[in-house]
Amino acid sequence: MAQNTVYIRIFDTTLRDGEQTPGVSLSIDEKLEIARQLDMLRVDVIEAGSPMSSEGEKEAVKTIAKAGLNAEICGLARTTKEDIDAAIQCDVDSVHTFISASDIQIKHALNLTREQVLKSAVEAVEYIKAHGLVCEFSPMDATRADMSFLKELCKAAEEAGADRINIPDTVGVMTPWTMRKLIEDLKAVLKVHISVHCHDDFGMAVANSLAGVEAGATQVHVTVNGLGERAGNAALEEVVMALHSIYKYRTGINTSLLYSTSKLVSRLTGVPVQPNKAIVGENAFSHKSGIHTRGVTVEPLTFEPITPELVGQKRRLEAGKLAGKQGIKAQLEEAGIHPNKEQLKAIVKRVKELGDKGKIVTDADLMAIARAVMGEVIAEEKIVVLRDLTVVTGINTVPMASVKLTIDGKEYTSAETGVGPVDAAIKAIQKVTSNLADIRLSEYRLEALTGGSDAVAEVLVKVEDKNGNVVSARAVNEDIVRASVEAMIEGINRCLLKKRALRK
Ligand code: KIV
Ligand code: ZN
Repeated sequence: MAQNTVYIRIFDTTLRDGEQTPGVSLSIDEKLEIARQLDMLRVDVIEAGSPMSSEGEKEAVKTIAKAGLNAEICGLARTTKEDIDAAIQCDVDSVHTFISASDIQIKHALNLTREQVLKSAVEAVEYIKAHGLVCEFSPMDATRADMSFLKELCKAAEEAGADRINIPDTVGVMTPWTMRKLIEDLKAVLKVHISVHCHDDFGMAVANSLAGVEAGATQVHVTVNGLGERAGNAALEEVVMALHSIYKYRTGINTSLLYSTSKLVSRLTGVPVQPNKAIVGENAFSHKSGIHTRGVTVEPLTFEPITPELVGQKRRLEAGKLAGKQGIKAQLEEAGIHPNKEQLKAIVKRVKELGDKGKIVTDADLMAIARAVMGEVIAEEKIVVLRDLTVVTGINTVPMASVKLTIDGKEYTSAETGVGPVDAAIKAIQKVTSNLADIRLSEYRLEALTGGSDAVAEVLVKVEDKNGNVVSARAVNEDIVRASVEAMIEGINRCLLKKRALRK
């Protein structure tokens, strides 16, 4: 598709509609930090707040307006002189003024008539323009308004001097088709720039915004992470990337900052980003199934519409029961780990076993499994092999472990008590193997790799024989006792093999 030269303005309302998200309240410093980030992102307009709503809010808008940012700084105001004056006193570049256009709101929220609404809108626009400021006018709830009144109101605002008319889908009831039709009809009677402001009550805010653009809107109201009143507004990152990548339209946005901006806003507002959120979610560029991980390893475009770097993200390959050999290999190689064929087979087997048990295998888990597998004594060379393990522990029970081992093919069993099940199991192993070699545990370290009671545990041990030879070994398992026992047996095998090799 050829590059479309149409430029779409991005009007960011994270600091105004976004702050209307239930539970969100930002300090002046936090608002300024977000404004600076939005400026680096290169949005065209930053709606910094509603100056009339509180002294703190007025201070925040004033601080942002004086911060020397490149973006147009806008303040929201109802169509009253008090509201507009409060915005003007903040030294903003533009005022976004709004009044209800739908009969339901005119009657029940404002207790006015259509004529009064018309008059108030015209006076507000004229007042803003008389102060030399850019004026954006919004007929609130436009999408539920009577069409002829909506046209009359928008026309009157345009004639009064409004620079832009913004069409809010205040309760998110549009579909892409109805939005397209509405904007086409308004475009036929208006000369000024048309903007769209879509809410996400039915999950269609982004689609409706894009439909508005298809019909000729040249500005879109958005918020980072789709924050906003109720179900939120159209998400900045989704609108922008769809405009760039699907429509081939231009915006001023530096897309490589989308992920970091999302992170910052999430941290400061305390609203987490769902993992499967488009563009900025943690899963947006994560691949799991074998077919997908193999595909993106060879050619990312096989299963990615855009490269993660374009939006400041990273590709993640997740290991699990659906993982394929090539994906796991690529993931390990990226971390500088190069298993041979047999080792890779063993790693994949361990990953799938964990996945079958419902465990999510994180990057750290995979690396630990690889380290353990690649350090393991190969099966044919093992002198000591664990055949069975039973542990008993409790508050009124002395911890006890019994083990069944084969040493050079001969079976031995032993049981011991200890301060805990790990201690008991290791003592039981030592009891059997002491006949073979006097090996003691000189160091033991346990690391739980991922949170949760089913975390994969990595145990690192150092064992020492009576001649002072020290070897280290590691094992990973979701069961801490098993990981400990396997690490100990691995250490004993290494010690014995070393001794036998020296004797030859
Ligand atoms: O959703 C809405 O209608 C608004 C107006 C203030 C434009 O946020
Ligand atoms: Zn809104």
